[in-house]
Amino acid sequence: MKKQHPETAALHFRIDNSETHPVATPIYQNSAFTADSPYFYTRKSNPNSVELEGALALLEKSKHVISTTTGMSAIMLVLQQLKPNDHLVINQYIYGCSYKLFQRYAKQMGLTLTILDLSTETGREAIPDDVAMVLFETPTNPFLKTIPIQAVAKITAQKNPNAWVVVDNTWATALFQNPLECGADISLASATKYVSGHSDVMGGFIAVNEDQLADDLLQTRFYSGAILDPNSAWLLRRSLHTFPLRMREHLRITQRLSAYLNTREEVEKIYLAETNPEQLRDYGGIIFFEFSLAYQDYYVPFRDALTLFDTGTGMACVSSMVAQPWSGSHASLCDHEKTAMGINRGLVRLCFGLENEADLIADLEHAFATLMAIARHETIAND
Ligand SMILES: Cc1ncc(COP(=O)(O)O)c(C=O)c1O
Repeated sequence: MKKQHPETAALHFRIDNSETHPVATPIYQNSAFTADSPYFYTRKSNPNSVELEGALALLEKSKHVISTTTGMSAIMLVLQQLKPNDHLVINQYIYGCSYKLFQRYAKQMGLTLTILDLSTETGREAIPDDVAMVLFETPTNPFLKTIPIQAVAKITAQKNPNAWVVVDNTWATALFQNPLECGADISLASATKYVSGHSDVMGGFIAVNEDQLADDLLQTRFYSGAILDPNSAWLLRRSLHTFPLRMREHLRITQRLSAYLNTREEVEKIYLAETNPEQLRDYGGIIFFEFSLAYQDYYVPFRDALTLFDTGTGMACVSSMVAQPWSGSHASLCDHEKTAMGINRGLVRLCFGLENEADLIADLEHAFATLMAIARHETIAND
């Protein structure tokens, strides 16, 4: 063959990587594979997403995992399994963006949307006979109420054996809760939170056991282009190595900090998740508390006095966060919707990172002392 021009030879030059044997899988930062590869095209699958999915399936105790670009795209992919006129049931207490998505999608797709309080027996009994999908988070956002997955699965199957029970497992995580083992058909999560753990990558995933459902979800992902990119898949897979260690430390710090908050007179009520060996084996990381009456309107000075708690939308990562559901996670709801759900301005969400617990307590002490000083000042001014 005629000697190639340097630019052609350079373009086709490759190392022989059959003998490289790296101890960690490299990033397959490529869109296409040769025709003899099982990977075909990165919009369908990629070694990095496949490895992440395999590791997640072990943790979720599922047969299949389908990774997605974000948690919201995981929810969207699941919703896309519904047909017009299907009946979707969601729990009342749910992430604000999910709530908005269900309302929009139900309208666009002609679904019937029913919102129930699935933490109560009355709410579960109200699941309609024509139900096609029941979707909920447990523990709930806000208030960390437990929804018994097994009870929901049982009553849903009685109403319609073909209906899907879907659990958003983002907050509990696969380390502490395995929805499929409790009778759910689908467990999904935002990997942007604890799986990533470092506030630097977005992702989501869906865990299922049923082959046909997995295939349908994979097809929907392929045609909609919702697969996780190789770089994010690699980062998430790397984060998974420390995931159990991080979760256990989040849990320990949460227990310590909750005990501290219990001693504060500015705190009226702390919301903690109830654990049990059948469903939620342990829970740590995110808690809610309610300011006592005198401090109901003091969220902003409290937040501003904290130095170790980041503000904003991210959470469930290595640094601690403070948020007000009223103006944050549930801001997209109207005031009357929030009030009906029991969300008021005095409700605070704390997400404990991996700082030293003594420093977190000192930071909270300082913030509470600031509030007391403001309250004292206001009392004097009003007298
Ligand atoms: C419970 C829950 N599900 C889903 C999502 C959406 O995840 P993402 O931001 O990765 O799209 C969030 C985001 O905060 C969440 O809290």
